[in-house]
Amino acid sequence: MKIKPFLTEQFFAHYEFTATHVLASSDCETTSIAELLAISGGSLDEFGAIKLGYTETQGHPEYRRLAAQLYDNVVADDVVILTSPVEGIYLTMQALIDAGDEVVALGPAYDALHHVAEHLCGEFQNWQLVPTATGWEMDLDRLSSLVNSQTRLIIVNFPHNPTGYQPTCSELEQLVGIARDNDCWLFCDEIYRGLETGFEQQATLPSVADLYEKAIVLNGLSKTYGLPGLRAGWLVARDAKIRQELIGWKHYTTICPAAPTEYLAIQALSVRERLAERSRKLVSSNLAICTEFMNQRRELFRWRAPLAGSTAFVEIDVDQLGSHQGRAFANTTDYCHDLAQNHGVLLLPGECLGGSGRFARVGLGRAAFPAALAAWETTLPPLDAGR
Ligand SMILES: Cc1ncc(COP(=O)(O)O)c(C=O)c1O
Repeated sequence: MKIKPFLTEQFFAHYEFTATHVLASSDCETTSIAELLAISGGSLDEFGAIKLGYTETQGHPEYRRLAAQLYDNVVADDVVILTSPVEGIYLTMQALIDAGDEVVALGPAYDALHHVAEHLCGEFQNWQLVPTATGWEMDLDRLSSLVNSQTRLIIVNFPHNPTGYQPTCSELEQLVGIARDNDCWLFCDEIYRGLETGFEQQATLPSVADLYEKAIVLNGLSKTYGLPGLRAGWLVARDAKIRQELIGWKHYTTICPAAPTEYLAIQALSVRERLAERSRKLVSSNLAICTEFMNQRRELFRWRAPLAGSTAFVEIDVDQLGSHQGRAFANTTDYCHDLAQNHGVLLLPGECLGGSGRFARVGLGRAAFPAALAAWETTLPPLDAGR
């Protein structure tokens, strides 16, 4: 069986490095090696002296120690360092899922979270977030009806890409309760953790790694810390047996982390609060601009402001946008390709993320966001036209 195409990465591969205005990214503004080392107190000389031999498969002990500090009940031994965050999704699914296993996954979702699981188990239960008038909700009754003692794994992602949804602490505990009552594994992708930016500023949720013994948690430096080119990520698994399985699969993928990345990741983790604060400020400021923009164009967009993370999922009236341009768009996929090709503005079609063709993802983490939004605006009907 062939795995489904990774539509998000395909869309970015096609346009990301040629589009003038990238409005769809999920990562936050990045930094240079020199700037990172200046903040952390590392040095280019030290970096230059790194030997390029193999490294420890589970990851450098200091890197694991610093990663473990993000959790209350996790020690360095519970951490498995990856060669990229996305690798952690592949390793976890391989370690946990066999053909025919029952899997429930939150949707919409970053493609890998659904496709790798589906490839291995055959078919999974898609547990959809529910859009409300102003935001998104998790339907825990629906989850209870989908999960039973045969369920092998529940897959979630909080803060959520693309909606920016995050549950309350009590909702998260209820979700963990459902996993515990059914004795199934819970994989939580927490790569946007620490990016709580909504207007009523949310608290950082406890990590699922701290709440549940049968949790596997993914995190990394790509999003909240703005370092996607470092390809730095880790899994947390407090269960020793499953950790060995993850490491076993790692031998077939990347064997060990890259030595230069390990050095820089250690530097970044030593100043992680500073990096995260910079991203939070940027996302908060872009979110305020975006919310005003959307509120002024209620006839075109339904805006559900994100609570956390660096993305939002906006519902777009493509019929109106099409009639303004004297043409017809079948859905947001059609519209986003046109916007990229003819205006150099990148929004990610919702269908790439398994969402409906009425939605597109907006990314709020980049410094050029206001300019990119202004470029998009030039393609829209003038503000007073619809009033
Ligand atoms: C929810 C989620 N998990 C994992 C990843 C993978 O991160 P990376 O591309 O840095 O490997 C992404 C990237 O967009 C993501 O959105």
